[in-house]
Amino acid sequence: MPDFIVTPWEVSGEIDYDQIIKEFGIEPIDEKLLFYIKEIAKELHPFLTRKIFFAHRDFKWILDEYRNGNPFFLYTGRGPSGDIHLGHIMPWLFTKWLQDKFDVELWFQLTDDEKFLFNQPLSYDEAYQYSYDNALDIIALGFDPKKTFIFSDIDLAGVLYRNALKIAKKITFSTIRATFGLDNSANIGQIFYTSIQTVPAILKSIIEEKNIPCLIPHAVDQDPHFRLSRDVLPKLGYYKPASIQCIFLPSLQQGGKMSASVENTAIFTQDSPAEVKKKVNNAFTGGQASAKLQREIGGNPSVCSVFKYHFMLFTLDDKEIRNIESRCRAGDLLCGECKNDLIQKINSFLKTHQERREKARPKLDKFLIKERTDLKEIVKEKLKKL
Ligand code: TRP
Repeated sequence: MPDFIVTPWEVSGEIDYDQIIKEFGIEPIDEKLLFYIKEIAKELHPFLTRKIFFAHRDFKWILDEYRNGNPFFLYTGRGPSGDIHLGHIMPWLFTKWLQDKFDVELWFQLTDDEKFLFNQPLSYDEAYQYSYDNALDIIALGFDPKKTFIFSDIDLAGVLYRNALKIAKKITFSTIRATFGLDNSANIGQIFYTSIQTVPAILKSIIEEKNIPCLIPHAVDQDPHFRLSRDVLPKLGYYKPASIQCIFLPSLQQGGKMSASVENTAIFTQDSPAEVKKKVNNAFTGGQASAKLQREIGGNPSVCSVFKYHFMLFTLDDKEIRNIESRCRAGDLLCGECKNDLIQKINSFLKTHQERREKARPKLDKFLIKERTDLKEIVKEKLKKL
C-alpha cells in the first residue's frame, strides 16, 4: 500500500513527489530549463527556484515556440465546491506571473459541472453559485481583464459540449476506469466529464481557426486529465497541451494538503484576522516541547507547517527565509515569534485580498464569458418570425 494518494478526486498522506514524477511520467524542472525560462522571462519566480512548481510536460517546447514567434495561451481552472483557501491561490499567483511575463491570454475554467457530478451533497445551484463566488477571488488577484476569460462550464455548455463530443468519442470506458479508478458505481456524468476539461486547451485554437500552443499551470493531481488530453487532441489535429505542475500547500496540521473539508487545516481568503491567528497558533510545528529545550537543541523547519507557509507563500525573499531557517535550527527563533511573523504576513495579504475581492463584484461582467441559455427567449423569438 502506498502511504499517499494523489488523484483528481483525492489527495492525502505524506506525498513523495519524486515517486509521482516517476509514476506519472512527468519531467522535473531542472537547472537547464530554469536557465531557459530566465533567459526569456528575465527573472525566475521563487515558486520555480524553490521547486514548488516542480514538474512539467513540454514546457521547453512552449518556450521554443514562444521564442520563435508562436506564443501560447494559458489555461487553468477551479472546481467550485466551496470557499477559496490559500492552497488554491498559490498556482493562480504563478499563473498571474506567467501572464505578466509572457503577456498572454488566460482561459479560466470553473467546473461547476464536475463538482456537481463528483460531490454527492453539492446541489446543481450551489455548484453554479460557487463559480461566481470563486471568480471574485480569481479577479482579486489582478489578472488583466483584456486578456482573461473566466467561465462556468454551465454557462459555456454549448461550445464545451460540441467539442467534448469529438473528444469523448476517442476515449473508451476502459481508459477512464484505468486512468481515474472509476468503477461500476460511478454515475455516467463522471465518466464523460474529463472530455469537458480537455476542451479549454483548444478553445483559442477553435476561435482563431489555427493551432495555438496551450500551457496549463496546475497542481499535480490534475495530470491524469491532461495525459488524456495529450493522447486525444493530436488525433483531432491539435497540439498536445503543455503543462507546468505544482505541489500542494500542506495542511497546517500534520500530513496531507490544505483541505477545505477538514477544519483548522486551511486558511480561507475570507477568514478574519482572529481566525488566522487561532489557526496558525494551533498549527503543527517543528518546535520542541519547551522553550528551554528549543533554545538548547533548536527546532526542525523541515517538518514544520509554519515554516512551510513561510517558504511556499509568505516569505519569498531568499535571504529572509534562510535567516528564519538558520535561526530556527540554532534555537534562536522560537515558535511564538515565527508564528506571529506568519500571522502578520497572512493577515496583511488577506486584508488587501478581501478589499480587492469586494471591488471585483462589479467587475464580474468584465471577466466572465457565457453563452445565451435562455430557452424561453429563443422560443419567443422563433415564434415572432412566423
Ligand atoms: N478539475 C479541477 C479541480 O477540481 C478544475 C480544473 C478544470 C482545472 N480545468 C483545470 C485545474 C485546468 C487546473 C487546470 O479543481
